[in-house]
Amino acid sequence: ARKIIIDTDPGQDDAVAILLALASPEIALLGITAVAGNVPLARTAENARIVCELAGREDVKVFAGCDAPLRRPLVTAEHVHGKTGLDGPELWTPQMPLQPGHGVDFIIDTLRAEPAGTVTLCPIGPLTNIATALEKAPDIAPRVAEIVAMGGAYFEVGNITPAAEFNIYVDPEAADIVFKSGIPITVMPLDVTHKALVTRARLEAFAALGTRTGRFTAEMLDFFERFDIAKYGSEGGPLHDPTTIAWLLKPGLFTGRHVNVEVETQSDLTRGMTVADWWGVTDRAPNATFIGDIDADGFFALLTERLARLP
Ligand code: BDR
Ligand code: CA
Repeated sequence: ARKIIIDTDPGQDDAVAILLALASPEIALLGITAVAGNVPLARTAENARIVCELAGREDVKVFAGCDAPLRRPLVTAEHVHGKTGLDGPELWTPQMPLQPGHGVDFIIDTLRAEPAGTVTLCPIGPLTNIATALEKAPDIAPRVAEIVAMGGAYFEVGNITPAAEFNIYVDPEAADIVFKSGIPITVMPLDVTHKALVTRARLEAFAALGTRTGRFTAEMLDFFERFDIAKYGSEGGPLHDPTTIAWLLKPGLFTGRHVNVEVETQSDLTRGMTVADWWGVTDRAPNATFIGDIDADGFFALLTERLARLP
């Protein structure tokens, strides 16, 4: 099985990404590192454990990581995710422990302990933990198999400002470090996630599983999609983060391009913009595979089939 670490700020869509990984035998989830993002760190670390307990996986190692971006105050997104970050279903206080130690040290220690090139990092929140690990332990960069991240945008541009996607906007300096790290990186930008819409039929398919995971997922996404339907007038909310895990399971669902991507860190107007050279108009070397298209029906079929395996 493919060994991964999920770095996350749950977040309803983060929760679904975690569930998809836990439901998939092709993936060995070595641990989850929580980061501040959609809601503050205490909440994301708690939400990650609620999701593991929902899946009956109290054994998963969950660590708390960084509680603020590298050089800026935290910006959160309760307007999208609700006060808890997982609004929708009824939540509980998790019983499973938070692991001792810092999430960043877990990332570093794991990459040093496992054979080089065997651990994939899946960041689906602001990139603070990953960047901090790379700064603290530069020797880990060549040991990372691949980074598969949700973040950024090219034609779709922004969801938190007109120019920027939330995960990159919150910690652009961290994103800059990651994109310049030389690690192979595959990115799910808004351009692709805005094609993975939770329509009513897809939402009802989760509820129809008749399991607690199915119900919890439907209740979360019902809350989550209200924001986007009201805002964008689309058929449903975009299910951003699980696309990263789906890419690991079934890359044939996606197409993209290997391009140069640079992150804007200076301008107030375009802070966090991912400037992707989609048309190859510069001679800057490609450093990331930006995904542009998804077989959305195939993606939701995979997701529904996998979630059906959980309690
Ligand atoms: C990203 O921001 C968060 O709100 C979501 O969880 C996702 O990771 C989308 O811009
Ligand atoms: Ca997220």
